[in-house]
Amino acid sequence: MDKYAIIGGQSLNGTVEIGGAKNAALAILSAAVMTDDPVIIENVPDVRDTMVLLQAIESIGVKVEHRDRHTVCMDSSHITACIIDDDFMKRIRASYYMIGALLGKYGHAEVPLPGGCNIGIRAIDQHLKGFKALGATVEIEHGSIIAHAEHLTGNHIFMDKVSVGATINVMMAACMASGKTTIENAAKEPHVVDLANFLNSMGANIKGAGTDVIRIKGVPKLHGSEYTIIPDQIEAGTFMMAAAATHGDVTVKNVIPKHLECITAKLIEAGCRVVEYDDAVRVIAPEKLSTTQVKTLPYPGYPTDMQPQITVALGLATGTSIVTESIFDNRFKYVDELTRMGASIKVESGTAIITGVEKYTGAVIAAPDLRAGAALVIAALAADGESIVEDIKYIERGYEDFDLKLESLGADITKFSSENELRKKRLKAVGN
Ligand code: UD1
Repeated sequence: MDKYAIIGGQSLNGTVEIGGAKNAALAILSAAVMTDDPVIIENVPDVRDTMVLLQAIESIGVKVEHRDRHTVCMDSSHITACIIDDDFMKRIRASYYMIGALLGKYGHAEVPLPGGCNIGIRAIDQHLKGFKALGATVEIEHGSIIAHAEHLTGNHIFMDKVSVGATINVMMAACMASGKTTIENAAKEPHVVDLANFLNSMGANIKGAGTDVIRIKGVPKLHGSEYTIIPDQIEAGTFMMAAAATHGDVTVKNVIPKHLECITAKLIEAGCRVVEYDDAVRVIAPEKLSTTQVKTLPYPGYPTDMQPQITVALGLATGTSIVTESIFDNRFKYVDELTRMGASIKVESGTAIITGVEKYTGAVIAAPDLRAGAALVIAALAADGESIVEDIKYIERGYEDFDLKLESLGADITKFSSENELRKKRLKAVGN
């Protein structure tokens, strides 16, 4: 099991290149199976979630060629089955996007139900409601969702809850349905827009993505495309927050500053100076952060996937901050680990009351999930002394070369799987 050894206390300084958005990639790679023509996708992040999804896609007969580390060529002209194996769903929840894609193209999909998850209940009723509204039958048998339709027909769908996943899944299924579909109360996240742009580049007719009403005119066929995935808002935000927590000065490059405004606004409130360029954002942190209040909301609100990172940063601010989680019901589990590093945080029904402390101290901590794992790494970078972060497999689900990128900014971080390996790597570092 890989771990990180981190010796904290160094400010992060310099420039870091941000990769393609993981959550956009998961939707776009799924949608790419909806054409028989070749599709080339660029800026695919080399992270565990995208690689597992590509294996799931290969398992149904799609030819997947990795042209280089971030470019994938897919040929879905000889799909042999519309059934995703349970094993993939256990490893990556978002393989449920294959329901919308396969149902839309082939009128049939069998995908295991996603299991529980570390950040709380993640219902899929809105996905199923959308498929049914388009005329599909949806059964749950032997732990799988079986969606079937002889013919999909456009409809007016009102989402009872703003859901990124349901908006994406229903958008895919609807783009080859006959007639018009309207999705109301749709999610507006950048990756919803990126998926719509990709589907449109394949010949779909989708308007309004990025607003809360998406209108789709069904088309009989989608064609091949070459497409570049947008930069990862959350990866960029994580490095921005790492700069804030370590009194650093970090420029995140290859980003869309507009997508980062919700994060930038909070950093400014916390006392950072933030400079926006065309495709970069620089965060210059003060010696001591100020307090602020944060509530996670659907885009353009402050993202729930950035909640643990800002909680870690505000744990070092002067005074009391409040962070309210309004999207998921169990997303403060990591606070126990943070408390072991000296944080003073009380969680009461979805709200964290954070009393800033002078410093964190290094400890052995375990990543409970992807984003909380990244946040604990930030805490370790800011802490006095050495920390060991265990279970980094969660972090590697969504961050490419996280340790190497942090190291390039001056962090003392070593990935290792055994004490022996850690010793050897440290000796080598001293020798250099
Ligand atoms: C996506 C992101 C995830 C992010 C989340 C919220 C991907 C692969 N994952 O997850 O990183 O944290 O958006 O921005 O893009 N809900 C229902 N019924 C449904 C669907 C959702 O009640 O049918 C609820 C969920 O339980 C949750 C809320 O709606 O409380 C938001 O979930 P949703 O936006 O669907 O999140 P995901 O698509 O799973």
